[in-house]
Amino acid sequence: MTIPQFDLSWLSDPTVFAVNRLPAHSDHRFLVAGQEPRQSLDGRWRFHYSPSLAARPAEFWQPDADLSAFLSIRVPGHIETQGCGQIQYINTLYPWDGHRALTPPHFSPEDCAVGSYVLDFDLDPALRTGRVCLSFQGVERAFSCWCNGRFLGYSEDSFTPAEFDLTGCVRPTGNRLCVEVYQHCSASWLEDQDFFRFFGIFRPVYLYAKPDTHLEDVWLQAGLDRDGRTGTLAPRLKTSCVDPACGEECTVRCTVTAPGGAVVHAGELALQPAAPDPACPGWMVWQAPELRLPDIRPWSHEDPALYDVSLTLLGADGRLIETCLCQAGFRRIEMADGLLQLNGGRLLFNGVNRHEWNPETGRAIGRADMVKAIETFRRNNINAVRTCHYPNQSLWYELCDQNGIYVIDETNMETHGTWARPGEGAAGAVPGSRPEWLACVLDRARSMLERDKNHPSVLLWSCGNESYAGDDILAMSRLFHELDPTRPVHYEGIFQARREAANGAPYDPAWEATSDLESQMYTDPRDIRAYLESTPEKPIIQCEYMHDMGNSLGGMESYIALTEEFPQCQGGFIWDYMDQALWHTDPLGRRTLGYGGDFGERPTDYAFCANGIVFADGTEKPAMQEVRYWYDRPDRRARFDADNAAARIRSANTLAAEAEARARADAAAPDLQIVQGDGNLGVRGPGFAVLFSYTEGGPVSLRRADGQEWLYRAPRPVFWRAATENDKGCGFPLRSGAWLAAEATARCTAHRLEECGPRGVTIAYTFTCPAVPGMAATLRYTVTPGGVLRLQASYQGAPGLPELPCFGVRLTTAAPADQVAWTGLSGETYPDRWKGGQFGHWQEAPHLAGYLVPQDCGCHVQTQAVTLRRPDGTELTACMAGDAFAFSALPHTALELEAADHKEDLGPAPHTHLCLYAAMRGVGGINTWGADVEPAYHVSGEADHSLTVDLPLR
Ligand code: GAL
Repeated sequence: MTIPQFDLSWLSDPTVFAVNRLPAHSDHRFLVAGQEPRQSLDGRWRFHYSPSLAARPAEFWQPDADLSAFLSIRVPGHIETQGCGQIQYINTLYPWDGHRALTPPHFSPEDCAVGSYVLDFDLDPALRTGRVCLSFQGVERAFSCWCNGRFLGYSEDSFTPAEFDLTGCVRPTGNRLCVEVYQHCSASWLEDQDFFRFFGIFRPVYLYAKPDTHLEDVWLQAGLDRDGRTGTLAPRLKTSCVDPACGEECTVRCTVTAPGGAVVHAGELALQPAAPDPACPGWMVWQAPELRLPDIRPWSHEDPALYDVSLTLLGADGRLIETCLCQAGFRRIEMADGLLQLNGGRLLFNGVNRHEWNPETGRAIGRADMVKAIETFRRNNINAVRTCHYPNQSLWYELCDQNGIYVIDETNMETHGTWARPGEGAAGAVPGSRPEWLACVLDRARSMLERDKNHPSVLLWSCGNESYAGDDILAMSRLFHELDPTRPVHYEGIFQARREAANGAPYDPAWEATSDLESQMYTDPRDIRAYLESTPEKPIIQCEYMHDMGNSLGGMESYIALTEEFPQCQGGFIWDYMDQALWHTDPLGRRTLGYGGDFGERPTDYAFCANGIVFADGTEKPAMQEVRYWYDRPDRRARFDADNAAARIRSANTLAAEAEARARADAAAPDLQIVQGDGNLGVRGPGFAVLFSYTEGGPVSLRRADGQEWLYRAPRPVFWRAATENDKGCGFPLRSGAWLAAEATARCTAHRLEECGPRGVTIAYTFTCPAVPGMAATLRYTVTPGGVLRLQASYQGAPGLPELPCFGVRLTTAAPADQVAWTGLSGETYPDRWKGGQFGHWQEAPHLAGYLVPQDCGCHVQTQAVTLRRPDGTELTACMAGDAFAFSALPHTALELEAADHKEDLGPAPHTHLCLYAAMRGVGGINTWGADVEPAYHVSGEADHSLTVDLPLR
């Protein structure tokens, strides 16, 4: 075959996406003479960055090219995270939006940066015989490569392997590999995922040698018989042979070993030649009859039993040529009785979407990143993952196999910006039904399927994300079915298309066949119910739900309840696993986690990259306990609830006994000493002193026996919480911004000494605010002789007042507390996100949760008592007097948080702000672009809210 030279026109031609690339095949490993003939090329390569196509050193691949201007780069890694080019995060729009007016399939050569990579290498001795191939596991976004001056080929599709045959041009020593990576090509239109846009060789590169006869592709086709106990294997093999005649004479022995080490099958496969695969020219295809293995352990999340399968290829003379090492999980996935079923039972996805991410290296991740994610999954009852929105590294699937994590394997495709365009609508959708994109998108589907087909964890193939609908995507789905009749196909876009059709967008009911299940995203639970009540043919999943941007994940119960009520409601995938943020140096020289816009890029979608249930460094977000709870088994949840209820009652009884003891102490205590001043009222008892101000709107001094001052200023009513991402997304601050004004400007306009005698002092302060006419809030303080300060915060609602974010009272300490301890629920809880909290005694340092954009955080609902402790050991406690309350103890106020874009903007905190809440709005979680918190978790501005706590001063 004549190999052309690289041609720049390929970059803008959607019909050219692979030149001279080897056919896609399974990701099995193999041994020759007991060794894996593989040589890693990862490490430092020579590198040159060019900002445009024209500026690139076009002849750098010539053996005598002058490389003196080349620097070096780490492979694998993105180019942008290593100091060249522009880091850019953007969601649905294309990164050139507003800079270049482009239409598919064009890109701007002036803005197409190029990375020129050079590696000199010698072949490892184990690779010096036989055929040698080169494998790129992931290169974003298009590249061509040369070895020793010879053009090897060209490839697109950033997230599946591209392999080339080096035989004939590689030598034992003194080789030069040159790779030219293009930031853009026509396929940039297919890779509009909501993520940081990078380019470069970002996954491993290696060489492998294959013997003269080689098992190129292995498909075990492991299944589970209807009896639930018999495993089936029907290996289909593809071989390549230097001498085609040899292939015919080879034999393959198959050994199957059970998890405990028992050999459950050993024998020669009775291979029959099968029809050649036109996608694999030169390879022979063989089919073995089905093997039936009795009494196997079916593979599932609960018991991810993996069987080792070794396939030994023997030559005509009986000589061992190679041994392929595979693993099989025997399971059966199917659509049956209107359900998605695994091993004959209804499947329930307790899933998350996961981007590959590391805060230093972006999507160039390693084993440690993946292992940490898997451990987090297992710890938190997550049983499924959608590889949004591209195939992941092979190791991820191995880990999912081993740990029983169900995978929706998604093709590398998202074309959001082509159809979600103002005015134009879906008519511009790529690939749509356009013939010029068809082969390209089918190739992506095929590359993924061929690589991943042996992994039992892969239960569904997915055609990509948010690429609208059309004949091309329907053809992808058909291809999946044709190549792999065993797995159902998932694609959400057709359901969006169905909705868009209502606005006149192109829509063909035939496209519904693209997906075997109804898959939606961010649907309101009420609409899911309506679907389920319509006796639908297809079961439904939420391929994305619980949009965990910032402080979110409220209301998960509504979704879980539907899965319990309707068998056809088969779970969902939280959006998403990890915040995408990168460590960088901010303009003040500080090392901080940067999100969109922090790198100087425009346009950007700022913090929309941060929606994880773990922070960018892999630590769990406060909401994780809620995920763990709702993804647990119902019987275990019930036990957890019962334990919590019992602990709550025990604790309430203890607190009631303590309150009674205080009441008895009150009766026995000496009279209060009262000093009436001109502007202040002093109240003193043995071991405590309170100074109420007539001008400052409350007590300005609170001292216990140790004499330390607790108050920095008089406590104030709280009308505002720093808007969460979901608050902003649904316009809550616009609707209820009057409360922000109240927070900033409300004043004490009256005070009343209601009682002032030796056996008790009560003073009430009323706050009003002209920005919210009609509103009144009162803070009422009572001091008893025994040394209890009772604090009552009450809000009187009035017709027409806007919804509140919260209502309560804020005490600001004179010096920061270093510990806050409370009796109540573990972790951070809100009215719509608390069931995962465990009732008990907890403590922590007052701190802001690591949300990338500062916002309300650190709330603890259903609290019975809270204590602030200072480094000198002094303490101040507030206990419930009646109902439990919510609180937060933070180093910053709502107004400070509201104004900050990064927590570094906030500086060191001289105080602790203890907010005690009578009411708190839920955080919501349906989405961050319009959905409100569920009605039950709104705080009405028309209703009354009040809170009573006792602060024992002795
Ligand atoms: C979805 C999309 C995700 C992500 C999310 C918002 O529509 O599929 O990739 O962009 O919205 O965070």
